[in-house]
Amino acid sequence: MDEFHTENRKNWEERAALHPATDFYDVEGFRAGGSSLQSLEREELGDVSGKTMLHLQCHFGLDSLSWAREGASVTGVDYSTQAIEKARELRDETGLDAEFIAADIYDLENHLDERFDIVFTSYGVLCWLSDLGAWAELIEQFLEPCGTFYIAEAHPYMGTLSALSADGTAQFEFPYFHDDQPERYDADGSYAAPDASFDHPTTYQWYHSMSDILNALLSAGLAIEFVHEHPFGTFKMFESMEQADDGWWYVPGLEIDLPFTFSLLATKSEKN
Ligand SMILES: C[S@@+](CC[C@H](N)C(=O)[O-])C[C@H]1O[C@@H](n2cnc3c(N)ncnc32)[C@H](O)[C@@H]1O
Repeated sequence: MDEFHTENRKNWEERAALHPATDFYDVEGFRAGGSSLQSLEREELGDVSGKTMLHLQCHFGLDSLSWAREGASVTGVDYSTQAIEKARELRDETGLDAEFIAADIYDLENHLDERFDIVFTSYGVLCWLSDLGAWAELIEQFLEPCGTFYIAEAHPYMGTLSALSADGTAQFEFPYFHDDQPERYDADGSYAAPDASFDHPTTYQWYHSMSDILNALLSAGLAIEFVHEHPFGTFKMFESMEQADDGWWYVPGLEIDLPFTFSLLATKSEKN
């Protein structure tokens, strides 16, 4: 693991220790039978019952276990040992059909020798990845022939902004295009625990344009079935956002539609 991933992992260990107790994750609601999944991925991915699923960057497993609750047999992977420990604890408590592996996804072939009907990943995953080409290849490698890859994620365009106001004023602060050299952030707090203070607040994040994401998957041999760009957030991406009655997040008063979220489904061919 290089210096950037090592630093990021230390930060994620701290986040993973705090996140299960946050309102953002609502573990109590999950324990009571709820799901942490959004209607977007549930509707677009469809019926998963009886399917095997590999969940990349599963954090502490709430989405993995929610898919298991819908009938999938799930293997979740995350490099945070704290996150995986919590995921296993929740799995044991609920008895759901899920396995969890503590590993860097780039090193997954040394931990897992199996193929899956579905590879799933979502929300807040791509910015931690230095190499999308290797990411797409490992997705292809772990899919069964005719298997399905699905991602729902913040739209890369939104990664360029640090603020967006109701009058349309946007603060462009970050690049849209990829650079091998990541952007360094020194910030306490996380999306789920904004007041947290960390021993390891430094993180390194990479930008990936929409064309980089699509081309990585195409180069790995996957067939893209759809790409959807959505004019709403699935969480509070900017201070100015509020949750509307439909459950999605918008900047109230903003009169133009912008792509806050994207989702994509791709398939592996019948051969190999
Ligand atoms: C924002 S979280 C994913 C959140 C997920 N959608 C959820 O809400 O549970 C990103 C996760 O990626 C993990 N991660 C980042 N880089 C990784 C890597 N190279 N290999 C494995 N896990 C990684 C972090 O530990 C963290 O749990």
